[in-house]
This record gives sequence, C-alpha cells and structure tokens, in this order.
Amino acid sequence: MVLKAEIHCHLEGAASPALVESQARKYNVDVSNIISNGVFVWNDFTQFLKCYDGAADLFRSADDYALLSETYLNELADDDCIYSELFISTDHARAIGISEQDYIDGIAEGMRRAKEKTGIEARMIATGLRHGGPESVLRAAKYVAGNPHPLITGFGMGGDERMHHPKDLAPGFDVARDAGLGITTHAGELVGPQSVRDSLDYIKPSRIGHGVRAIEDPDLVKRLADEQIVLECCPGSNISLKVYDEFEDHPFMALRAAGISVTLNSDDPPHFHTSLKREYEIGANEFGLSDVELTQITRTAIKAAFVDEETRKQLL
Ligand code: ADE
Ligand code: ZN
Repeated sequence: MVLKAEIHCHLEGAASPALVESQARKYNVDVSNIISNGVFVWNDFTQFLKCYDGAADLFRSADDYALLSETYLNELADDDCIYSELFISTDHARAIGISEQDYIDGIAEGMRRAKEKTGIEARMIATGLRHGGPESVLRAAKYVAGNPHPLITGFGMGGDERMHHPKDLAPGFDVARDAGLGITTHAGELVGPQSVRDSLDYIKPSRIGHGVRAIEDPDLVKRLADEQIVLECCPGSNISLKVYDEFEDHPFMALRAAGISVTLNSDDPPHFHTSLKREYEIGANEFGLSDVELTQITRTAIKAAFVDEETRKQLL
C-alpha cells in the first residue's frame, strides 16, 4: 500500500456531481447547464471555470462547506491519503453572500470531522483569482493576513493564467508572505515558460501549481532544479484540459529526471475524471513509477507542505 499526500486540489472543484446535484435539490436550482448524465460538462478552460463557479454557487453556508470538505477528505482517507492541502477562495464566500469567516469556519469544521474519523491532516491555502485582477488578489491576501486561522497556512492563485502580469499581482503575495504564509501560484499550465519565469521573479513562490510547460526551456528547468522549486503536477488535469494530448507527451518524468521535485495531485478531480488515487495509478501505469518511487513522491509533497514542523515530522 502506498500512502499518498496531496498539495494541489481546489475545494469547490472537488465537489462531485452527485453532491452538487444534491445541493441543487436543496436550493431548488437547475444544474442541467453544468451537469449532464452525472458528469460535469465543459469544453475548454474558460467553460471549465464557468462550470466550476456554477458548482461552487451551490455551497451557500458554513454547514454546506463543512459537508463539502468532510466528504472530500473522507474519500481521500479511504484511498490512503494522509495529508491534503485544499485551495479555498474567499471570493466564493463573497459571491454567495456569506462572510469570509463563516466560509473558513465551515471548511475547518469539515476538516476537524474528517480528521476525527480518519486521522487525515488537512490545511487550507487561501487563493486569489487571477482573472479577478491585482486588486482582488490583494483583497484576498489582506483578509487572511488580517484574520489568521491556524488551518490556513498558505496563499496561492488560480484562475486564468492568460490574464495579468505577475509583476502586477505580486503585492497580494507580499502581504501573504509577510503574514508568514507559504507561497504557491499556478503557472506554466496554459502559458509557456515565460509565465513560470515571471512568477518566480515577482511572486517568489516555493512551489508552482503545474509548472509543466517549463520543460519548453532548458535554462528554466535548470533554474527550477537549482532553486528547489517544487512542482504540484496534475497529469490527469493536463490531459483533460488538453495541455498535452497523451500521457506519453507529458513531461512529468523529464522534469523529474532533470532533478526537479515533482508531486502528484488531482486539481479538480471530478471535472477531470480523476482522483488522487488515479493520479498515483497514472504515475505507476503511464510513467512506470514503482511503489518506492511513488512513496518518495508522497514524501516530497509532505516536505513541501505548508505545515508546522511537528506535524510534518509525524507525517514523514
Ligand atoms: N482553478 C481551478 N482549477 C484550476 C486550474 N487547473 N488552473 C487554474 N485555475 C484553476
Ligand atoms: Zn489547480
């Protein structure tokens, strides 16, 4: 049995179609525009984000969020996952009209219940939405910096990588870093190496979400290895979003061979027809990784985790 850890998963993107449909019944909302025959429907990244927001819109209270985080973490624990970092976004709280604090407290309550039941450790990474622009990223960072929560240990950014320059987005990350939060950002998923380079220069993360398109620039690959930047790779997501056509085109093994610390993650599992378990299966079956190597990947994730040293030691 290979123990697993995950450091890149979006909480709202982890809601299964069945759970979203159950929430839709609760609030009497028609979700046929985002779910068809029990499957999320979208065709490209822009539509995916709309589908994601449509699902997120059905979690409307602290209790709903407790249910969502507990449900997902219990599933992970069933698949031998011992640690999970979940991207959260206070923008979703704003969108549904609950307070940021209710949103965070609800998620924390679900984490507490899952830990009590299964032992799984979990933390939150607050995120800014890139397509919301610099002001919205700064607002998200200021909220978590000004309202510290013991389970919020990192700050990151998701959303449309094609929009806004890292230089303009950096102020929010400076606020988060000064508050002691670990820093990660999505880059090198929809856009090539320059996006990763600019993110390193201006956002100064210790980890990059995806980062796979760094492979297009050998100097950048060397820089990532030299600076020990950890990549939160999500191969199933990359295939689903057509970043690569086939697993044999995916650079996971080449990045690893170049000395970069790579990890396996599910991103938005039901949207990409995946799970953390499946990502580890992809590692074994598509990339040829042994159980020993997969266990090393779990250890890489835990070493890169935004977690206190005592918990890290227990997990390692
Ligand atoms: N938000 C949710 N999933 C994402 C992804 N794969 N890339 C960027 N932003 C996201
Ligand atoms: Zn992501």
